[in-house]
Amino acid sequence: MNETKTIRKAVFPVAGLGTRFLPATKAVPKEMLTVVDKPVIQYIVDEAREAGIEHFIFVTGRNKGVIEDYFDMAYELEATLKTRNKTAELEILDDQLPLAGSTTFTRQQAPLGLGHAIWCARDIIGDEPFAVLLPDMIMRSKKGCLSQMLEVFRDTGDNVVAVEECPPELAHQYGIVGVGKERGQAFEITEMVEKPPKGKAPSNFFISGRYVLQPEIFRFLSMQEKGAGGEIQLTDAMKKLMARQKFWAMKYVGETFDTGSKIGFLAANVAYGLSRPDLEAGFRAEIERLIGPK
Ligand code: G1P
Repeated sequence: MNETKTIRKAVFPVAGLGTRFLPATKAVPKEMLTVVDKPVIQYIVDEAREAGIEHFIFVTGRNKGVIEDYFDMAYELEATLKTRNKTAELEILDDQLPLAGSTTFTRQQAPLGLGHAIWCARDIIGDEPFAVLLPDMIMRSKKGCLSQMLEVFRDTGDNVVAVEECPPELAHQYGIVGVGKERGQAFEITEMVEKPPKGKAPSNFFISGRYVLQPEIFRFLSMQEKGAGGEIQLTDAMKKLMARQKFWAMKYVGETFDTGSKIGFLAANVAYGLSRPDLEAGFRAEIERLIGPK
């Protein structure tokens, strides 16, 4: 087992086609769709920054170049804002810009699954534990989801995934874990199954898109075995690693918006819009007008 107790690197698999959001995603990556005035990916990167992540690895694909541009300095824009004394806007850009050299972009050349996307980052990760954040899920909580997970990681030194409970009839849509002994906010995982057949899930705790993994996972990802949906699944590699290393499920405390679904995406816009002091009053009035009297 790797003795390192610091997680410095995080992987963001952003190669997905975003077919659920066509036609928008024909020309704009789904990760760049905005929740209020920030792209979805910014919320995910902010969660990682809050948890102390220093290096941000994006596994991209064709037509995702704008994500790389977004995390670069917009030199001409900044020069124009400076000459116009737009200090507030400059501050927004300055706060959003990652430190030079702290991002890496690599491409998943074919859509072979989440496990394959993470495997594409193997050389950039090297031999240290790392985090994975799925960009669909925006997690809103006082202490970020990854920060909550790192407490369990520092305590155990093992692998950690964030879990939440779903209605049992939806378990077949997710990676589901079996529940073992409790330890604070976490429990030991006894089994794992990606997209279990209806009625066969070991619990209703689903993996909610945040992972802290030991580098040994790459050994199992490199086998490139296909699982649910004919894709190379991260859950299957974790299941194999479970025979050698412990996995903990951290019961996430907070709200989750699945921006990969239209309802979740719209709900995120409402929730974040209402929590913005500069928008709250006007936005609330507009929502009330639209909903109309009961
Ligand atoms: C992926 C994972 C699954 C997890 C889910 C969370 O599935 O494979 O284990 O529960 O994300 O959103 P996908 O949403 O890509 O089908």
